[in-house]
Amino acid sequence: MYNEIDLDNIDINLEPPAEEPARQYYYMAKCREWVKDLGEKQGRMPRFCVVNMGCQMNARDSEKLTGILEQIGYTASREEEADFVLYNTCTVRENANHKVYGRLGYLNGFKKKNPFMMIGLCGCMMQEALVVEKIRKSYSFVDLIFGTHNIYKFAELLYTTIENRILSVKHNKKNSMVIDIWQDTDLIVEDLPTERKYFFKSGVNIMFGCNNFCSYCIVPYVRGRERSREAKDILREIEMLAKDGVVEVMLLGQNVNSYGKTLDSPVSFAQLLQEVEKISGIERIRFMTSHPKDLSDELIDVMKNSSKICRHLHLPLQSGSTDILQKMNRKYTKEQYLDLIAKIRSAMPDIAITTDIIVGFPGETEEDFAETLDVVRKVEYDSAFTFLYSKRTGTPAASMENQTPEDVLKKRFDRLLSEVQKIAVKKAEKYTGSTQKVLIEHRNEQDARLVTGRMSNNSVVHLPGNADMIGKTVDVTLTECKGFYYIGEAN
Ligand code: SAH
Ligand code: SF4
Ligand code: F3S
Repeated sequence: MYNEIDLDNIDINLEPPAEEPARQYYYMAKCREWVKDLGEKQGRMPRFCVVNMGCQMNARDSEKLTGILEQIGYTASREEEADFVLYNTCTVRENANHKVYGRLGYLNGFKKKNPFMMIGLCGCMMQEALVVEKIRKSYSFVDLIFGTHNIYKFAELLYTTIENRILSVKHNKKNSMVIDIWQDTDLIVEDLPTERKYFFKSGVNIMFGCNNFCSYCIVPYVRGRERSREAKDILREIEMLAKDGVVEVMLLGQNVNSYGKTLDSPVSFAQLLQEVEKISGIERIRFMTSHPKDLSDELIDVMKNSSKICRHLHLPLQSGSTDILQKMNRKYTKEQYLDLIAKIRSAMPDIAITTDIIVGFPGETEEDFAETLDVVRKVEYDSAFTFLYSKRTGTPAASMENQTPEDVLKKRFDRLLSEVQKIAVKKAEKYTGSTQKVLIEHRNEQDARLVTGRMSNNSVVHLPGNADMIGKTVDVTLTECKGFYYIGEAN
């Protein structure tokens, strides 16, 4: 963990400071006292489990929440054994919401047996007023709800939750829920503790929110307006990560190509990448996600001339039909997208290109769908995430006419998936026999004699090896392609 601070030097009998992050460190110190007391009472330190249900942005938030919980003395455990369970939710598609309700019911069983157990909910789904209303009414055993804009306040909110829990146990009273949801913010609080899932790689937020309002998408409503971190703060974080053993960073934003435009002294994403490239110790730079409408020639040039930026670009297509793209508010046409791909491939012939595609946007005809298949065949994606369109209340697409019938939608989805897979397998085979640099990430889950890593283009490789190799980059000869992954041998 970096930003290790000395909570012992904080006088918790004083009033809380007003400024951040000092205020949160004060509440961390207060929470720690309680965690210690509870530990003594229980004869073991209290345990926590943060369950991440969303994208890389959420995963990074989960690491920040975990950093705070570890700082105050909680130890990590499985969900079923935890004294504090925190769901970091996603709401990009409707089925993500159903999952949360199902799991809450299951958790309540554990809570009944453990009076000091607390359940918290945060993340994108909590930014929806109807969701919070439903939880308040039907899941009153939940202790804490907060949203995406105030996660920096977690220690303070947790402290209030703890006070509530103590009172309700003492007076044998019903739970009172702590709810703190903000509609938006332009505040960015730096320098809170963070934990990392991997010691050798880390996500780094470069911006928050989204201003694109693609007509199907709920993200701008639950993540707020786009705001970039100052380049100096990002670089300082990456320098610290590098000193702490990180060799790979993934720069995170909903649309990294528009990074820096709103800063007082604007910086382009390509300029930021060039600065990150200079940081010694960093070997690989990845980023996510690029919106095709904002991908600049400057970025292509910087990528081409870089030895650290990975040969992988995730460039969501969403649909191959210009008509549908317009209804989606994506601001590019099929031809512009194909031209962009041609430009990227001519600069970097070995680059892997991956994408996201939505099937069944309202009004999608068989001809529109054929255009999507056409782009898929022309671009030959290395892999593609395919999604069934999901109606999100409050987005413009939710009230569009001609919602596609479910059976048509499912058939199209299967056709797309089989096309995408056929191409991905064909493309993957071309590397068999070659030697590639592979960053070893973890032991293989199925076979303890193997380790698993990734090539620069993000392809997965399994090879014989041991735990000492984790976090190291090794030259690997790819002996066999198994469709979506390779088997290899270290040279
Ligand atoms: N900012 C990123 C994507 C974030 S959401 C980008 O613009 O690429 C990840 C993916 O979820 C999107 O690319 C889209 O393909 C999918 N998605 C978003 N809203 C959806 C919806 N209502 N139904 C189905 N898929 C959706
Ligand atoms: Fe959603 Fe579009 Fe923003 Fe991506 S760019 S998060 S798809 S609104
Ligand atoms: Fe989901 Fe929020 Fe990410 S809605 S996809 S967790 S930004």
